[in-house]
Amino acid sequence: MRINNKKFRTIWFEENKVKIIDQTKLPHQFIIKELKNVKEAINAIKKMEVRGAPLIGATAAYGLVLSIIEKNDLSFLNKSSEDLIKSRPTAINLKWAVDRMMKKLSGKNDKEILNIALNEAKNIVEEDIKFCESIGKNGLKIIEEISNKKKDTVNILTHCNAGWLATIDWGTATSPIYHAHQKGIKVHVWVDETRPRNQGASLTSYELNEEGVPNTVITDNAGGILMQRGQVDMCIVGTDRTLSNGDVCNKIGTYLKALAAKDNNVPFYVALPSSTIDWSIKDHNKIPIEERNSEELSHVEGIDENNSIKKVRIYPQKSKSLNLAFDVTPAKYITSLITERGICEASERGLKNLFK
Ligand code: MRU
Repeated sequence: MRINNKKFRTIWFEENKVKIIDQTKLPHQFIIKELKNVKEAINAIKKMEVRGAPLIGATAAYGLVLSIIEKNDLSFLNKSSEDLIKSRPTAINLKWAVDRMMKKLSGKNDKEILNIALNEAKNIVEEDIKFCESIGKNGLKIIEEISNKKKDTVNILTHCNAGWLATIDWGTATSPIYHAHQKGIKVHVWVDETRPRNQGASLTSYELNEEGVPNTVITDNAGGILMQRGQVDMCIVGTDRTLSNGDVCNKIGTYLKALAAKDNNVPFYVALPSSTIDWSIKDHNKIPIEERNSEELSHVEGIDENNSIKKVRIYPQKSKSLNLAFDVTPAKYITSLITERGICEASERGLKNLFK
């Protein structure tokens, strides 16, 4: 998608280095950063310079390419893959991408391994773009239907950033929105700010602005009253891990939005590529929920009147905090899942019908 009218992807490989857009600096500064080795790829994931389930998967794949460039040695590669998987625990795409790469590299000799790794990382990236585009085409039908019935602007609420910045291009939750907008359907997006890191306010609103999609940033707690007032036609969010029973793990606060949506008869959709499905667990209590640094809660970062980025503390130093990064929305609150293969019920039967 576009930044300043120029097309970008979130990650690319150039001159033996990986290039990323440093998302910790957005929306105030647009900085392209180089990752030169696997350690830098791991740090970029940990510090959330790259974030969003599909994008951290792609970064991990390129991280293995960097590992081979640095030292073409099997035990180093194995250690790199373990460290990459551990860098963030909740999004299954990370493990999915590393496992896929390692399977492809297994048994390959020193001379061919780099080319094979690079090709597979590129395949992961291209596949994600294709899948996100298909999610957009499938989700477009839902927005179109509401628009035809309502004959007015479709108001869509989203949480966190499941936009193109969280993927390689298009996004998951935003892809149907971009497709609708490009088709001339009138859409308006309610953007949850998404405390504590404000991915909604800093990233979703930013990327929607760049594409010219009307949007309004709201506090995380405003969705309920907007739904009660009939100002939300549908919710659409992304996911970091979807269980085979249709339960969805996503950014903290997603669950509360789904409850409010249920109470107000607002359809609640989850958009995902198949790389986000975890077929191995059925019990959501087994999902490792990332607990992040309390500084993300105790401090906020923004730009002052001199255009300098400042970080300020917002509550007493003595106060304890708990910073859980994700929660789980049970399948019963989800209207449908929107995938690259089509739309299905959030259930084992629904998912298996699409992904036999
Ligand atoms: O902690 P983040 O910013 O990586 O969390 C991102 C999300 O929760 C997204 O909704 C999810 O990864 C889906 S991305 C298409």
